[in-house]
Amino acid sequence: MAMLRNSKAEPLECQDDFNGKLVAITGATSGIGYATAREYASHGANLLTINRNKEKTLNLCEEINRDFNVECDFKIADFAHISDVKKVGEELAKSNLNIDVFIHNAGVYLPERTISDDGNEMVFQVDHLGSFILNYILKDKLKAQKKCRIILVNSEGHRFAILGLKLDDLKWEKRRYSGLKSYGSAKTAQLLTMIKFNDYFQNSGVTINAMHPGSVKTNMGEEDSGLFQKLFIERSYRPIEISSKSLYYLGVSKDIEGVSGKFFNLTYEEEPAPPALDREVADELWDLSIKLGELE
Ligand SMILES: NC(=O)c1ccc[n+]([C@@H]2O[C@H](COP(=O)([O-])OP(=O)(O)OC[C@H]3O[C@@H](n4cnc5c(N)ncnc54)[C@H](OP(=O)(O)O)[C@@H]3O)[C@@H](O)[C@H]2O)c1
Repeated sequence: MAMLRNSKAEPLECQDDFNGKLVAITGATSGIGYATAREYASHGANLLTINRNKEKTLNLCEEINRDFNVECDFKIADFAHISDVKKVGEELAKSNLNIDVFIHNAGVYLPERTISDDGNEMVFQVDHLGSFILNYILKDKLKAQKKCRIILVNSEGHRFAILGLKLDDLKWEKRRYSGLKSYGSAKTAQLLTMIKFNDYFQNSGVTINAMHPGSVKTNMGEEDSGLFQKLFIERSYRPIEISSKSLYYLGVSKDIEGVSGKFFNLTYEEEPAPPALDREVADELWDLSIKLGELE
């Protein structure tokens, strides 16, 4: 009931400016990431965008610079390649940039089972491992900054993983793959590791929250003319501003100061599905994600 009510509500807005602050956003070349990059830039923030397509990125940064006269820097990383993500993470960890807000937005929905060159199911890799690896590599740097808001663009779709995350079958070899279930599993995985990152950042000034950005028309699910598109997206589309304004509110508003480890539907706190709250699975997934990312 809360999910239905919150999904229809108008998100809370923040009118404060963010002049001179630095906002990192993954997947800023289209959809929600693009709208959010423009929203932050319109309030005076400088951007560091992390995208897979260089041409789109150059166009984006030129546009942001022209329209808002703020800095727009970039890194290129295809999350389908773990080595790309690690390289960017390591470069940022060594830099002296002070990142005020880090928005992990890049994500995919795939109707067909796809295995990455790294040997992982692709949605799990892009939607979960990508943000996990960046956060893991950057965690000490962010802690040393003593202030940063990390936001995971997650989804109400995490609820599709009704039976929880199957750690013994992350590649969908033993079960029939479905786009909805794999998307739900990857988003559940991201929420589970948020529990662990939240523990790590306790009392450090760094917060980490996840959010559902609303149901909005983007490139996501375009290749799926089936159930996902028809049942869950098309019927409930809302303007993309609800996503970008919610992400601005969560990153900037004083109302959210110190709030961490929470899931928001737009700007409203909500209880995630039980499988996304399972600490035992979170512990196991944490170790497994470190192993898959070859992080230690
Ligand atoms: N749209 C919705 O209704 C909705 C609902 C709930 C949650 N979400 C979440 O919102 C986030 C943004 O999605 P969107 O709807 O804005 O979709 P979108 O328009 O497809 O944008 C996705 C962004 O992620 C990037 N991306 C995709 N695969 C990547 C990869 N392998 N490596 C690096 N970047 C990659 C895309 O880059 P390119 O521009 O190069 O394709 C694009 O910038 C996702 O995490 C999604 O799960 C969306």
